[in-house]
Amino acid sequence: MESIASSYIKGTKWFRKTIDSRGKQVPQLDMFVQHDTLLQTFHSINEETGEIEKKNIPVLDIAYPEIPKQIPSKEDINMKLYKHILECDRETMKKNRFIFIEGEKMYQILHHVFGAKLEDFETFKDACNNNFYDPYMPFRTMGLMRMGLDLKMGTATHLERQPYILTEKEGFKRVDAGKLRFFGEPEDWILENTVFQAIVKFLAFFIYGVDTIRRYGCDPKRNFNFNAFFVRTITTPSILGEPASEGVHGDGVEYTMTMLTKSSNVDYDSGSAVTKLLSLDEQLGIPAFDVNPNNVLQVVQHKNFLDTALFCDNEMYHCVTPVYQLDNEKQATRDMMAVFIRRMAKLGGEFTSSLFDLETPHKNFPFAMSIKDKNLSNLYPETEILKSGNHLLKEKPSKEDHSMTSQTEIEDQK
Ligand SMILES: [Fe+2]
Repeated sequence: MESIASSYIKGTKWFRKTIDSRGKQVPQLDMFVQHDTLLQTFHSINEETGEIEKKNIPVLDIAYPEIPKQIPSKEDINMKLYKHILECDRETMKKNRFIFIEGEKMYQILHHVFGAKLEDFETFKDACNNNFYDPYMPFRTMGLMRMGLDLKMGTATHLERQPYILTEKEGFKRVDAGKLRFFGEPEDWILENTVFQAIVKFLAFFIYGVDTIRRYGCDPKRNFNFNAFFVRTITTPSILGEPASEGVHGDGVEYTMTMLTKSSNVDYDSGSAVTKLLSLDEQLGIPAFDVNPNNVLQVVQHKNFLDTALFCDNEMYHCVTPVYQLDNEKQATRDMMAVFIRRMAKLGGEFTSSLFDLETPHKNFPFAMSIKDKNLSNLYPETEILKSGNHLLKEKPSKEDHSMTSQTEIEDQK
């Protein structure tokens, strides 16, 4: 009988032989052996002295063969048109600091540009179906997913659950402000759904291109914290469902996205779930009906599947009116995906979440994806710009302590 050792050696020999013979069939570039190394001068900053230095670094003189051209698929036919629309939307967002995209248009963008599969849209509507109850609010169910967005690498990674905390400092004035809140997590099929993945890429496209003021105490050198909430607000004959019972508030981040995934029995004509974007002059915590009309920047209402609002959260406040029923005998439900994005806090620093902005990958549902799309490859900024952090140098100061802001800036420049 053949021993394990001799069959292993035999197998290795067969493998070597196969690889060698295959290698001979492919023309090989003699890239490493026969070319002389050349020296090229690069300028770099000495991290200790801060001086700019010249360095001679050996480079190889290689002529790279051209990359074979991709054959466009049938689904790419409308891609050029939607790519142009998306570019225009990003310009609008840069200028106005908010944008509202109607569901039908969003559907086309997610499908044609970001590769969402048609069969996944119907499934995605049910993203809130298996939410856990919200331990803090009786009229809603919740799921919270954390991801870390690495703009240099162009990746998003599913992260472990951490407590969620907001205080008045971030613009959140409610009875549970300052509490460490825990929510259930969305089911893992949502991560695998191509509509969800297309939404992550859609948001990344805006983050790459739209500068925003960094949150006080957040670190421009760290990755982005991406909290995706799946929220069902429920109004019953006895309980009024309020998407934002805290009244006028901020979400404590840099970018907020809100998107409708499904609703039933909601009386939109009577002013249900109207979102008002407000200037920072508005008073925190007052009900949506009491805001000063002079402070209203924009009014939007998510009514259809994928209706989407995106805004720079640290540059404005917002509020949402309650959900009213069409048929008062039945319950009304409003399902939303709400995404809150900001730079991770300096660990152990002054930001409220500074102890919880960890980047430990999720143990039970490990998952990572690219946040860049091949169709937009020429529309992302160069990695070097991101490395310097130049596009995020401004910081939103705390209203309480401006001296600490200066300290933070000094630390950043170190
Ligand atoms: Fe909000």
